[in-house]
Amino acid sequence: MADPLSTIAATLRDAFASVTGLAADTIDPVVRPSDRADAQANGALALAKQVGRSPRELAEAAVATGLLDGACSLVEVAGPGFINLTFTPQFLAEQLVEAATLPNLGVRAATREIVVVDYSAPNVAKEMHVGHLRTTVIGDALVRMLEFVGHTVVRENHIGDWGTPFGMLIEHMVDLGGVDADLTIDLSDPSAFYRQARAKFDASEEFKDRARRRVTLLQSRTDAPTMLIWQKLVDKSADYFDVVYGKLGVLLRRDDIVGESYYQPMMPAMLERLDQAGLLAESEGAKVVWVPGFTNREGEPLPLIVQARTGGFNYATSDITCVLDRVERLHATLLVYCIGTPQSQHLQMVFKAAEMLGVLVPPARAVHVNNGNVLGDDRKILKSRSGEPAMLLDLVDAAIERGRAIVAERSPELPADEQARLADSIGIGSLKYAELSSDRIKDYVFDWDRMLAFDGNTAPYLQYAHARICSIFRRAGVERASVRQVVPVIGEPQERALALQLLQFDSAVHDTLDKFSPHRLCTYLFDLAQAFTAFYEACPVLKEGHEATRDSRLALCDLTARTLEQGLALLGIDAPERM
Ligand code: ARG
Repeated sequence: MADPLSTIAATLRDAFASVTGLAADTIDPVVRPSDRADAQANGALALAKQVGRSPRELAEAAVATGLLDGACSLVEVAGPGFINLTFTPQFLAEQLVEAATLPNLGVRAATREIVVVDYSAPNVAKEMHVGHLRTTVIGDALVRMLEFVGHTVVRENHIGDWGTPFGMLIEHMVDLGGVDADLTIDLSDPSAFYRQARAKFDASEEFKDRARRRVTLLQSRTDAPTMLIWQKLVDKSADYFDVVYGKLGVLLRRDDIVGESYYQPMMPAMLERLDQAGLLAESEGAKVVWVPGFTNREGEPLPLIVQARTGGFNYATSDITCVLDRVERLHATLLVYCIGTPQSQHLQMVFKAAEMLGVLVPPARAVHVNNGNVLGDDRKILKSRSGEPAMLLDLVDAAIERGRAIVAERSPELPADEQARLADSIGIGSLKYAELSSDRIKDYVFDWDRMLAFDGNTAPYLQYAHARICSIFRRAGVERASVRQVVPVIGEPQERALALQLLQFDSAVHDTLDKFSPHRLCTYLFDLAQAFTAFYEACPVLKEGHEATRDSRLALCDLTARTLEQGLALLGIDAPERM
């Protein structure tokens, strides 16, 4: 384990076990970073209650076992029973070598699970807007991190590809020549086709009737021409989604599309199961599930409608069926939903219904990784010039454009192709990082200047810190890999601070995943880059005359660069070697 806090926790667990007689695996020593020392353990407090002894006495007894002596130069019992720990330089050095040589920079593997991540989920024949930026970028970062710690991750893009609007969309296609109609999605206005269909629908009773009949035909899935036109609409939209995903550099591919339509054929059987379980009730002609604990504004119980009075299925029907599919077909035990906060109640009701059905039961569980809004200067949802929610592709293109301007100004000496790549990395990186570094449940104000700045908690700041380290090695003519076996000598306080920061990568990744909150990893990387800056200002590297010290510092530089690069990669952000 290349994490001193976990290593110390394991040692303390043994120490507490030997003084209390309890089994070590039932004890949590609670070891955290501290201002007073390198770390503080306050687990004696809870443990003392459990065994009926004084926490101070327990802490002192644990220290007296001597088990901590090898790793710590100073161990002090403080206050009601805290243990303040200062690590020996040797212990830190050993842990650093482990981090540098273990796979994944010493980040522990999780107990493998099959995890489904439902993210992005745009709608067919509609544009992707700023709301999809969050669900897409957050979901993608979580996918990368879950895979990194060893889970089997199934990406699912739950696109809106079914429902009543398809009646008018298909009918509009029929008017334009059916499946052979030249349907091109206008990348500057992907919803244009939808609006044309809608305008006809609103203006003509005859069209409305046709659209209604077409929905029934679609739902029967038996009419080949209808299915072909529907498929074409979906395919064309998927082409457009691919353009956005490609530019944005997210992992989603065609194969990841499992839209609402996929669940349609399984819905009658799902309703049957609800019925057999005695969960299906009637309310005002509709079939509903009464999910306890949910009420409307008047305080009356709120039904989850699974079949409308007209017989049609809806969003809840599709989502319950989807839970069944993920648990029973994919054998997933963790279902992650990256969707905006407004759908929270819907999802909680769906999860509860699946739980009542006996499907979503331990070890299977679902989490709503919700997110707030992206706001403009007016504190309302970020808009385009026309007043609509800002289009995602416009934001992506503008980010790349701004990246180009920065590169032209700062790095004109680089070859043209490298400049173009760098512009993408900076522009897209900034857009993603702004997203990921703010607490996802809060709203945040979109600000190009802030997100593209080279100082502050931004992508360019971290990218630059990484590139700067790469340039140190270039200037020295030293192979990065050649310093990986070097045992660092931790002397100066800035070296120590950097070492401690480097060794918290493991806990930063796991904390981020425990809370599904990428901003935790961002905060960690920002702190790391700052610790590096402080180190680099105080401790000469290339100018250092003493060879062993110079090698030791180069080893710290290399591990910092690798940690920054890996951390950014987990966020879906490039770390260029030159900037
Ligand atoms: N298509 C939906 C929307 O744009 C989001 C779907 C999210 N996923 C789900 N399983 N409900 O609002």
